[in-house]
Amino acid sequence: MKIAVVGKGGTGKTTTSGTISRLLARQGREVIALDCDTNPNLGLSLGLSVEETYRLAAVRQALDEEDSEAEHAPSVLEMLERFGVTAPDGVRLAVVTKIEQLKPG
Ligand SMILES: Nc1ncnc2c1ncn2[C@@H]1O[C@H](COP(=O)(O)OP(=O)(O)O)[C@@H](O)[C@H]1O
Ligand SMILES: [Mg+2]
Repeated sequence: MKIAVVGKGGTGKTTTSGTISRLLARQGREVIALDCDTNPNLGLSLGLSVEETYRLAAVRQALDEEDSEAEHAPSVLEMLERFGVTAPDGVRLAVVTKIEQLKPG
């Protein structure tokens, strides 16, 4: 099952995504949460600390920063293993991309 949560800013996407993920994980399902927001903070809703949430490298940036000789992860699961983190309740979280310096517009 794949669930995408979209909508206008401030409408509860992150809160809803975090709650759905945690409830499914508590029921024993394997849950992968991908934070696609350019200002990613899903980690907080999943129970990570502020530090852990902001330290989490975005997969996009992490791949770019890797040694060019290094093998890119051959599968989504390996990418999650390398760049993701397991939050409380067992949800595996990865940040897809983030904007380092947000500017108006
Ligand atoms: N069902 C709700 N009832 C009241 N407040 C909510 C609800 N869902 C989210 N919020 C609050 O609204 C604000 C925006 O929620 P958030 O999940 O960050 O939105 P988004 O990810 O869409 O920007 C937060 O302060 C959050 O605590
Ligand atoms: Mg949000």
